[in-house]
Amino acid sequence: MTKEITLWPASGLLLLTLTFGCTPVAKQEIPTDSGIPGLVTDARWQQADREPHNWLGVGRTYEEQRYSPLTQISDRNVDDLGLAWVYDMGSKAGGSATPVIVDGVMYITGPWSVVYALDAGTGKQLWSYDPRVNPEDGARGCCGVTNRGLAVYEGKVYVGVFDARLVALDAEDGSVVWEVNTNERDNERRTITGAPRVANGRVIIGHGGAEFGVRGYVTAYDAKNGEQLWRFYTVPGNPEKGFESKAMAEAAKTWTGEWWTQGGGGTVWDSMVYDPTTDVIFLGTGNGSPWNRRIRSPQGGDNLYLSSIVAVNAKTGEYLWHYQTTPGESWDYTATQPLLLATLEIDDKPRDVIMQAPKNGFFYVLDRQTGELLSADKFTKVTWASHVDMNTGRPVETENARYENGPQLAFPSPFGAHNWHPMSYSPDTGLVYIPHQQVPWVYSDEENYEAKPGTIFNLGLKWPDYPEDPEVLEQILPMIKGSLVAWDPVKQEKAWEVEYPTIWNGGTVTSAGNLVFQGTPTGQLYAYKADTGERVWSYNLGIGIVAAPAIYAINGEQYLSVLTGVGGALSRIAGPFAAAYQARHSNRVYTFKLGGTATNPPLPERRPQPPLNPPARNAGTDAVDAGRDLYARSCMRCHGEGAIAGLMDDIPDLRHSPLLHSGPGFEITVLNGRDGTYMPGFASQLTSAEIEQIRSYLVKRAHDALDQEKDQ
Ligand code: HEC
Repeated sequence: MTKEITLWPASGLLLLTLTFGCTPVAKQEIPTDSGIPGLVTDARWQQADREPHNWLGVGRTYEEQRYSPLTQISDRNVDDLGLAWVYDMGSKAGGSATPVIVDGVMYITGPWSVVYALDAGTGKQLWSYDPRVNPEDGARGCCGVTNRGLAVYEGKVYVGVFDARLVALDAEDGSVVWEVNTNERDNERRTITGAPRVANGRVIIGHGGAEFGVRGYVTAYDAKNGEQLWRFYTVPGNPEKGFESKAMAEAAKTWTGEWWTQGGGGTVWDSMVYDPTTDVIFLGTGNGSPWNRRIRSPQGGDNLYLSSIVAVNAKTGEYLWHYQTTPGESWDYTATQPLLLATLEIDDKPRDVIMQAPKNGFFYVLDRQTGELLSADKFTKVTWASHVDMNTGRPVETENARYENGPQLAFPSPFGAHNWHPMSYSPDTGLVYIPHQQVPWVYSDEENYEAKPGTIFNLGLKWPDYPEDPEVLEQILPMIKGSLVAWDPVKQEKAWEVEYPTIWNGGTVTSAGNLVFQGTPTGQLYAYKADTGERVWSYNLGIGIVAAPAIYAINGEQYLSVLTGVGGALSRIAGPFAAAYQARHSNRVYTFKLGGTATNPPLPERRPQPPLNPPARNAGTDAVDAGRDLYARSCMRCHGEGAIAGLMDDIPDLRHSPLLHSGPGFEITVLNGRDGTYMPGFASQLTSAEIEQIRSYLVKRAHDALDQEKDQ
């Protein structure tokens, strides 16, 4: 069956009809051009399906299915898809945002939380807003100055800024309407990289920062003026100070020791979905701070509400229910991954569900009214738990899963079987399209752990050093797999899977044209048939993609748009895997349409790399080993595992640094950082002797690389 929807395009002149979808809806006339830019009202937001040519929020509708009902581009004609326009942001960092498209205008964030408003039909810039994050603040956070998107509501654009500000802009010209600091205290290491959600006059935002001793919370502000309405903490604070709510008193019963001294974690750094029918906001909470429970909560405990889906009354901020995916989290198995609302037929009954495929490798389907667990099954190789017991709703852990008896090779890794890369759901096929990855990891306690809040990773477990052992690396690499998995959430089984040569592939979008689109960090954009997984189109951008595309229409023409620029944790940390990724690096919005004839602008140059030319080895094994541990805690998150730089063009590979030849020059750079870049200074964290140990380690790693070159 087809339905007809009449659209009033942004021009207001041309009346046109698109056919799409399969559920019958009466013919409606929806004037979408009020003349006021970004005028997304609650009524429009709640009935987003009536205006399929718009993409009103990062997930398109409040259900965040990332499904477009448009059918002009379909599996039958996708061959004709060509480039319509390209907008270059002029930056080179992680590009992970999905655009929002309202009445012919595209609003999108780039790195450093910069906002762009573009004519969605031509790519012409209408305005841009730069919150001017202090470059030094770029060193905050685990995974780079990336941003996953914004919200548009009642004539304003809301963006969470990397340095923890929340800013409201006038959608017409990008001028600041209000701005608040979401930190509780000075010098907190909170960062915002996720998109705010807007609902019923409120803007809601969380943070990242659990690697740096942050206590998670989510705050709601008045959308009009930024006044704080409520704050929901995700983990309890110091009991002596009294608990903020009953939920915190309950949660505190599941913690032991003096957890509050290290923050606790549970940050809500990405996913939140809002259900306007019940005025409930669902939060996906993060890992513990530090990661290792033996340090965080020494006598055990579930440590609520880490790694959970938590339902909160969006009006009052009161706790309603929770489901904890990983009790006593000890592996960085966050439940911050995209949450998705849908109505599924389960046992012949329609159920309003919430779904998630978090890092831990299980796919969860919950009743979103009650929090009842309906099903949970592995969508990937999982070794830390055998299954989820449906009577208790808890995972059944395997032997030594908590690495209490020594190092344990495990799947998934802290990179997740699925990370923040958005998944999508098609009501036509009933399938969820998951950017999946299989990465093993060796978990083990960190010896001589000492809490060092500040610029240093506070994990409490040892970062595996397999990148340094070519033999181990050779065994690990074949176990690594990236793929697009089409998952049937009712049957809890895989419908189809397409493998990629690399991991960290882009988010997905699906459409009523029986298509799924996904980009790769190697610079390809692909389309598949949504029902069968057959690859029906590809385009080589030459620039890496990790973001998810969006689909919209203007004047009856359908577009597909995606932001380029690799970024996020793996792009920086996973240096040893980076060899396979040959794409260039740049933040551009690539937009396609049927018959598009624009050409791909020249690719950006790579950052030139000095030759590998280390000084003679300058230290014994002890100093090098100490340097390795210090490097893992302080430098690796930017300069890469095993001192092998990741995919980020803006960060040098230290094995090649001419500064290795100069002890004092190296020390000054590390103590003071680099002005105007986000290379942080470590004066308050590292001693001269420690910096020298790091240099010795880097010299050793440079020689390892030379030896390897000679072998080949
Ligand atoms: C938050 C990310 C980040 C962290 C953490 C970080 N760096 Fe850097 N580092 C950078 C960036 C970005 C640059 C490039 C600056 C530029 O463009 O000049 C850089 C440059 C450098 C350079 C100059 C290299 C050259 O040849 O010019 C040295 C040396 C260096 N880092 C050492 C370290 C050491 C040692 C640590 C850990 C103690 C560390 N960095 C931690 C981001 C980081």
